[in-house]
Amino acid sequence: MSAMTGHIVVDNHKVDVTVKNGTIGPSVIDIAKLYGQTGMFTYDPGFTSTASCESKITFIDGDEGVLLYRGYPIEQLAEHGDFLETCYLLLYGELPTAAQKADFDYRVTRHTMVHEQMARFYQGFRRDAHPMAVMVAAVGAMSAFYHDSTDISDPTQRMIASMRMIAKMPTLAAMAYKYSVGQPFVYPLNSLDYSSNFLRMCYAVPAEEYKVNPVMARALDRIFILHADHEQNASTSTVRLAGSSGANPFACIAAGIACLWGPAHGGANEAALKMLQEIGHVDNIPRYIAKAKDKNDPFRLMGFGHRVYKNYDPRAKIMQKTCHEVLTELGIKDDPLLDVALELERIALSDSYFIEKKLYPNIDFYSGITLKAMGFPTSMFTVLFALARTVGWIAQWKEMIEDPSQKIGRPRQLYTGAVQRDYAPIGKRR
Ligand code: SDX
Repeated sequence: MSAMTGHIVVDNHKVDVTVKNGTIGPSVIDIAKLYGQTGMFTYDPGFTSTASCESKITFIDGDEGVLLYRGYPIEQLAEHGDFLETCYLLLYGELPTAAQKADFDYRVTRHTMVHEQMARFYQGFRRDAHPMAVMVAAVGAMSAFYHDSTDISDPTQRMIASMRMIAKMPTLAAMAYKYSVGQPFVYPLNSLDYSSNFLRMCYAVPAEEYKVNPVMARALDRIFILHADHEQNASTSTVRLAGSSGANPFACIAAGIACLWGPAHGGANEAALKMLQEIGHVDNIPRYIAKAKDKNDPFRLMGFGHRVYKNYDPRAKIMQKTCHEVLTELGIKDDPLLDVALELERIALSDSYFIEKKLYPNIDFYSGITLKAMGFPTSMFTVLFALARTVGWIAQWKEMIEDPSQKIGRPRQLYTGAVQRDYAPIGKRR
């Protein structure tokens, strides 16, 4: 990383700053000395112009619609690789050799079972509990079961915890689904690949043999690749901030799951499908487009827009292709929801409001239709997002822990509350 020094003048204060250049993408102005030299903070709600860290993991060019995992375009990884290969890449920084891939697959496969008492942990929930509530609790509870991998200062324990998280998320997610439908939990099967194992744990029943549909398994594996990491998004920043205090990795991932649940973030796939169902028919689209454009109406087109992408989300294109593959494989010719989605996209992309505000479909726009066709209830959509994003959260958490410059995250504020005043006895208050 190259750097150059300079200065900025703030309120007649001359402040020394350093401009740091990355390998690609925007440079940054290091303002660490700003407060010391001016007594002022920067102000950037939502961090729209703020880099929180240095990272080598994922690069996004929002204007060009580019997404790279460790330098590899998402389109190539989704086309040619599998999810565990992507997990290896995100964790170690390089694509695995055949031997490394075989070893990694073996290690993940043999960490897929969860402590048997976790099954009893689930019994405490009502059957209609939202699976995301269950996942926040279950993942946080893992620090109560796996004490031997919570010492974050030990690199070996950090890697064990990372492997456990990647390996056990499908099992915990499938258990959350099974619990919600009142069916018995299905144990993982080591002879199956990652995504096939997850499908079987979700849909197999003791009463009959379950045969994994390879087209479904491949589609799900590709969906996991698309969701694996995405730079410093809200949930990843949550994981980093939790980790900066030294919290154990399971607690940090639980915090990330909680943040992802929001409808403005990972909860948008569930919200997007509900929106398409509410629109119901292509004839109703103009009314909803008008609502989305109405400043006084809180309605937004779920699955549209993005903090970073001001062009088409490259994942949405691959998601749309996967959606068609799944519907074709399942013999679903004319899904009314897909008709609404395609027509909504066509109208929105030609409407001046969406063009001016650079609002394009994001990854959540087509994922809901696809996952619904695969048999998942809408309440499981964000669970699948969390399952896939776990490797990104873990990779970013490890990078932060291993960054010698990292310190506890502690933003400041612009205070506009009451100035100091004295306590008034209750009898003297009006
Ligand atoms: C994910 O950050 C990541 O990387 C996240 C993610 C990941 O992989 O981790 O990519 C996953 O979270 C994708 C985003 C999923 N969310 C949704 O689909 C929810 C709907 N989208 C919006 O809520 C919104 O677009 C955000 C939250 C995604 C981004 O909002 P920004 O960048 O903060 O922009 P904004 O809210 O300030 O909106 C800019 C303008 C506003 O109008 P003005 O105030 O300028 O007049 O665009 C409008 C907004 O009203 N706008 C929309 C809109 N999104 C923004 N208008 C209608 N429909 C929308 N969806």
